[in-house]
Amino acid sequence: LSDALKTALEGYEWSTKLFHHVLKYTSDGKEGHNYLQKRGFEQSDIEQFQLGYSPNKDQFLSTFLQNKGFKLENLLEVGLLSSRDGNTFFDRFKGRVIFPIQNHQGKVVGFGGRAIEDGIEPKYLNSPDSKLFQKGKLLYNFYEARKHFQKQKEVVLFEGYADVIKAYQANVYHAVATLGTSLTKYQSNLLKRYVDRVVICFDGDQAGKDASYKTAEQLKEVGLDVLVANVPYQMDPDDFIDTYGPEKFQNQVLGSAESYIAFALNYLKKDYNLQAKHDQLAYIEKALDLVATVDHAVERDVYLKELEETFDLYRETLENEIIERRRINN
Ligand code: UTP
Ligand code: MN
Ligand code: MN
Ligand code: MN
Ligand code: MN
Repeated sequence: LSDALKTALEGYEWSTKLFHHVLKYTSDGKEGHNYLQKRGFEQSDIEQFQLGYSPNKDQFLSTFLQNKGFKLENLLEVGLLSSRDGNTFFDRFKGRVIFPIQNHQGKVVGFGGRAIEDGIEPKYLNSPDSKLFQKGKLLYNFYEARKHFQKQKEVVLFEGYADVIKAYQANVYHAVATLGTSLTKYQSNLLKRYVDRVVICFDGDQAGKDASYKTAEQLKEVGLDVLVANVPYQMDPDDFIDTYGPEKFQNQVLGSAESYIAFALNYLKKDYNLQAKHDQLAYIEKALDLVATVDHAVERDVYLKELEETFDLYRETLENEIIERRRINN
């Protein structure tokens, strides 16, 4: 580890402790604390995830770090501070709730800073990519979740920090999230080393569905089993847990997660006008391609039955199409 990186790690360690302390014990932290409370985060979440608050002051952290003996210019590149002229340094996360992001060895290497009022852009300010912190290589909560992978060989993949924390409240400990980007090949391969199955639990809006499909395809590509959870439209997992509680989340959202194929068969309908014969045929072709990739005969049977009934087709025709496709694939 270079000296610069060691300094940056120490900077993050001190900052994490300071912001956590501010949130818990000081009047500067009150507004952060109120915000978290209002959103249903509990004291145990604040501890478990080392949450903090960066006071709404220009030079609270920078003064603290300077007094600790840090050369502030060394903390610019890793995004702890900001500066206009390179001489005076300001608190980059001021007025934000701090979600510390650990690397896979458990060291804090970045922050996600949540605005506590509506309408502030960006909603989350994240540490910039640097030698220390690479969004495409890390997963939020991976260090903790890894301890729970052995039991189920499964991970639940979320979009947001808040989802992971609320899931933890709901006793779902094997949970991670990307850091505001789409899942990378690197992250897919990383998961593949630890688990057999990924349950995708993204937001229930169209963007979440689109991302679920893209992510599922990518996880299939590295050989993972994929399930897609069913989050109601216009909610995300953290809203769902707030509204309906942990049990319903376990049973209705995670418990009713569907296989990648079932999800895709439904999702892909949006690309076709199923009232028009021509489009209907195109969809059926696509659907058969998908079903033919399923190795379990019984599972194939379930999907074929649905196609048979939805489009009023002969079962034998469908089965022949599958046999044909599987012969070519293998
Ligand atoms: P969402 O917009 O779904 O936010 O973004 P959220 O997690 O539900 O946040 P809350 O519940 O309103 O607090 C999902 C993730 O995308 C990244 C963050 O990692 C966030 O958790 N993101 C989002 C950013 O990096 N910047 C943004 O401005 C917004
Ligand atoms: Mn603590
Ligand atoms: Mn979203
Ligand atoms: Mn969300
Ligand atoms: Mn949310």
